[in-house]
Amino acid sequence: MRKAKEKLSELAKNIVRVLKLAYEIDGKLVTLYYITAAFGAITPILAAYLFKISIDKIVESTSIAGAQISVPLVIVFALAGYFFIHLVETVSYWGLNVAYYDYLLRNKFQAGLNYRYSKKLSSLDLGHLESPEVQNLITKVEQTFTWQIPDFVRMWNYIFRDLIGIISVSIALSPYSIWIPIIVLLVSSPRIYLKLKHGNFVWSMYGGSAPEAKKLWYTGDLLTSTSSIIETRIFQSQEALLDRLLGLQDYLYKINKKPLDSYRWVLIIAPLMESIVVFALVYWILPNALTGALTIGSITFIITTLEQLRGHTSWGAAHFGELYEHSLFVNPYFELMALPKLIKEKTGAKILNESKPPKIEFKKVSFSYPNGREVLKDISFTIDSGERVALVGVNGAGKTTLIKLLCRFYDVSDGEILINGINLKNIKLSNWYSYLGTLFQDFVKYNFTVRDNIMLGAPHIRDEKRMQEAAVQSGAYDFIKNFEKGYDQMLGRRFEDGEELSGGQWQKLAIARTFYEKAPILIMDEPTSAIDAESEYEIFQNLEKVYKNKTLILVSHRFSTVRNANKIVVIDDGRITEMGTHQELLECNGKYAVMFNTQAKGYQ
Ligand SMILES: Nc1ncnc2c1ncn2[C@@H]1O[C@H](COP(=O)(O)OP(=O)(O)OP(=O)(O)O)[C@@H](O)[C@H]1O
Ligand SMILES: [Mg+2]
Repeated sequence: MRKAKEKLSELAKNIVRVLKLAYEIDGKLVTLYYITAAFGAITPILAAYLFKISIDKIVESTSIAGAQISVPLVIVFALAGYFFIHLVETVSYWGLNVAYYDYLLRNKFQAGLNYRYSKKLSSLDLGHLESPEVQNLITKVEQTFTWQIPDFVRMWNYIFRDLIGIISVSIALSPYSIWIPIIVLLVSSPRIYLKLKHGNFVWSMYGGSAPEAKKLWYTGDLLTSTSSIIETRIFQSQEALLDRLLGLQDYLYKINKKPLDSYRWVLIIAPLMESIVVFALVYWILPNALTGALTIGSITFIITTLEQLRGHTSWGAAHFGELYEHSLFVNPYFELMALPKLIKEKTGAKILNESKPPKIEFKKVSFSYPNGREVLKDISFTIDSGERVALVGVNGAGKTTLIKLLCRFYDVSDGEILINGINLKNIKLSNWYSYLGTLFQDFVKYNFTVRDNIMLGAPHIRDEKRMQEAAVQSGAYDFIKNFEKGYDQMLGRRFEDGEELSGGQWQKLAIARTFYEKAPILIMDEPTSAIDAESEYEIFQNLEKVYKNKTLILVSHRFSTVRNANKIVVIDDGRITEMGTHQELLECNGKYAVMFNTQAKGYQ
């Protein structure tokens, strides 16, 4: 267990940064939230004091000879004040704080957190997203942040109320004895220590043993997502997966239960000790009432506020423990939010402003993934403006990696990529991306309308004619024309009335998206793998028309598409082994010729 001091300072840091965040999201609401919480602590003491006055005055009145018929005004006022203060408590604390501001703040806060989380994740570098450590961190955060952090704010609200309560009661009791509040506080303090200890264990179920928790979520996903159900049904692997799920649940349950078991006695012994001490204190001051040193009202006041103090300290300790528990989930959120940019943009980065596709030059480029071996070695080649270049090679050769470098998802380990002679690292990224259109094998299937699916290629344009042209050129119009709602047809199964498409149909739509964008450089990484041969032929015919004078970089395993390229680059184990036109490469009779002939043989 880490040192208590360390834990406390971390907790203090989290209180500050979460409150700062809450203030950023809605400062006014947070202020009202905490003010009403303070009201909740002070009003019961005021009420108890007014009650003390009422009792003392009643006793005083009865002791006067010849009891009066009319009630002295001071008693009426004191009692009225007592009920009024209770009313204030009910309205401000139980009404506004607990049932209104708490709810509003929670919703606002959740929305604010979600926005920041989505913004951060969508801007994370691929280097982060593909790293297991960051994936682990994301898992920890995504399953908890929308409720653990708002719970942290709520818990701090309770503690704030407890603290104000403890201070106010201590002040109220100090004229009688300064020792009473001190003793009650001392008796409750072991709870705080044990709660600190306990908080760590709760964390271990989801966070500390994250790999197991991650496996649990993942196995659950496999059992419940449609695509995997189709496969597990046929392989009849559900039973095996369910067993695995049970095993993981059992494991996590056990590691969570163990520390709870040892904590059990605290839950019984602590309140028992506290009750004994409070009773002893009351017993200790009781003689003062009998001798008349303390009025009946004062005794009532002391007993009432003592009970309040005990409530605040024991609840405060419990709340403090819970605050600590939530705090452990707060850390990963801030850790994720603080992940630095891996791809850094230089200040004063250059802007390309020609509409013509720029010349691309790979110069002695080498690359290794973080913690990985060298995947690309000494890559040098040029792509001229408007050239059609195909990258070919066996699985794992490094083609997709090369494209990731060109998109600057990663920076090269060695060498440089020049764009019109400028190092890619010195070009403004948003400017560079405006030159690129990409289509990857795992493209997005937007569960939106057909129109949205195409127009999301260039959301700033909104040109209906251009969108329809793109649909025709990509071949997507062939199935769109059968939809009653045409371009307004919802796609995918996620929402009502959504129409599911086949793999190839989705791909055609993704191609329409790139056609709609008409970027000067089009990168296609196995764009037609799921498309039938006839449609593929047509798409490439249209590509010739749409992409006249534009650069095309194509990765494909189909030689029927590759052979038309101006330049074919053969990559083998991260190196360029051959380069030239289809004819040239066949003549040199190297690896390309072997691959081409093998595929051609299959068709004979
Ligand atoms: N994020 C990553 N981290 C570490 N290694 C990776 C990562 N992505 C790919 N690799 C490795 O880099 C090598 C090249 O992968 P790449 O995806 O570039 O191959 P490819 O030529 O596109 O293959 P395919 O034809 O199967 O798409 C492979 O050995 C792969 O294991
Ligand atoms: Mg690939």
